Amino acid sequence: MGRLDRKIALVTGAGQGIGAAIARLFALEGATVIVSDRDEALGTRVADEIAANGGRAVFYALDVTDEAAWQRTMSWLQGEYGGLDILVNNAGVALVKSIEDTTLEQFRDVMRVNVEGVFLGIRHAIPAMTARDPSRSGTASIVNLSSVLGVQGIPDNIAYGTSKAAVRQLTKCAAIEFAERGYRIRVNAVLPAVTETPMVSREIEEWAEQGTFGTRDVAATRAAFSARVPLKRIATPEEIAYTVLFAASDESSFTTAAEYPVDGGRLAV
Ligand SMILES: NC(=O)c1ccc[n+]([C@@H]2O[C@H](COP(=O)([O-])OP(=O)(O)OC[C@H]3O[C@@H](n4cnc5c(N)ncnc54)[C@H](O)[C@@H]3O)[C@@H](O)[C@H]2O)c1
Repeated sequence: MGRLDRKIALVTGAGQGIGAAIARLFALEGATVIVSDRDEALGTRVADEIAANGGRAVFYALDVTDEAAWQRTMSWLQGEYGGLDILVNNAGVALVKSIEDTTLEQFRDVMRVNVEGVFLGIRHAIPAMTARDPSRSGTASIVNLSSVLGVQGIPDNIAYGTSKAAVRQLTKCAAIEFAERGYRIRVNAVLPAVTETPMVSREIEEWAEQGTFGTRDVAATRAAFSARVPLKRIATPEEIAYTVLFAASDESSFTTAAEYPVDGGRLAV
């Protein structure tokens, strides 16, 4: 028995990093996974790899900033699978820049993906999630990827930090509205600390370039990041995926509007 048997799950930004780890784990736990990404080559590779290992996965191209694409995706899901059980709003972009160096266009670009993308996902999932056969077990579940940087302030992070704080509020507003309306859709947020993915490799290089943590050396910047975490290391994508799995599954059936830090203790200090 898998923890997600018979579930249909859509993961955005699943072409690499945390999203790919979530897609692989969901498939191992019995879900049919829609691996979506704006990068077709990355997403197809992950879907093919899951299928080659005996899982159920298909790639579906989706840029989360494109409302018409969300509508197409949800109509396709309803036609193909009769609805959607799980949506993981994982796609996100980072920006390492001081306030003076962040242009309005760059600020808006981050908001478009990290905030509008999550809003559109929540909004357009409603018909596909409420259309689920009522005899199906459990509730539908939306899991949004926020960040510890949506709680804590650090330098050179104005756009990303603000966007991830907004994801926490999108989560709470949607969760409460759905509960009040009697929709069977739970909404929760996961807040990772720094996790070993292509996004973070790029970020660490940029923090080093800017000397944000008092050094221009990449290895020393990476060490400075790890030192800020009580568990003294960077997370693996799989460690984030396991908490997303819990929030997505019926095991968390009484949990909505919650925030799960997966941060090696970082938010407690
Ligand atoms: N890595 C970390 O340390 C960390 C920490 C906290 C939160 N997060 C969050 O976790 C999520 C995943 O991060 P990651 O580190 O795996 O990132 P990543 O950059 O390694 O991968 C992101 C994926 O999203 C896709 N993507 C980007 N914009 C998109 C769009 N508009 N539409 C569809 N797909 C798009 C990319 O093609 C890529 O495959 C993000 O929301 C990120 O903010 C990451």
